[in-house]
Amino acid sequence: MKNTMKLEFPALSENEPFARSTVAAFCVRLNPTLDELSDIKTAVSEAVTNCIVHAYAGIEKGTVTIECEAEGDTLHIKISDNGRGIEDLARAVEPFYTTLEEEERSGMGFTIMQTFMTSFQVQSEVGGGTTVLMTKRFDAAKTEKDAQRSEISNAQ
Ligand SMILES: Nc1ncnc2c1ncn2[C@@H]1O[C@H](COP(=O)(O)OP(=O)(O)OP(=O)(O)O)[C@@H](O)[C@H]1O
Ligand SMILES: [Mg+2]
Repeated sequence: MKNTMKLEFPALSENEPFARSTVAAFCVRLNPTLDELSDIKTAVSEAVTNCIVHAYAGIEKGTVTIECEAEGDTLHIKISDNGRGIEDLARAVEPFYTTLEEEERSGMGFTIMQTFMTSFQVQSEVGGGTTVLMTKRFDAAKTEKDAQRSEISNAQ
């Protein structure tokens, strides 16, 4: 059965750790491996950090919204802000591209999200905000085995 969750918080750096842990806690029922859980936490952390450091830079701080949907062996995550948006999306997703070089950012956030998740997509509008859509598909073989195991234990 499908399960959903929505989380909204101000774009403050102290909110990043609980945001990543909350998404991890939500997907535990999909039976992720520790590696998969760690991938998800890393990707969420990068996306939320971007909302915190870039989205509202120089403008009034707004909110970060995370929506999650778990269905079957797949977790869908949508992380959005209503901030300044990204002018050149094609360049922004390139490895090592950053607009905050002076703060020693490495420009690897989007690349990390892409590498650690099954699918990754970003939409942005200048002045309208940014939305990152990611999915993680859990190891199907493992999920299948767990389902069989639970059928066996239910039958007993
Ligand atoms: N939510 C956002 N709102 C506005 N601009 C963004 C947002 N997310 C990313 N960007 C822009 O895209 C660029 C690339 O983002 P990316 O996460 O790859 O690198 P970074 O944040 O600069 O560095 P790192 O993630 O390695 O600390 C950023 O420098 C910024 O200009
Ligand atoms: Mg980043």
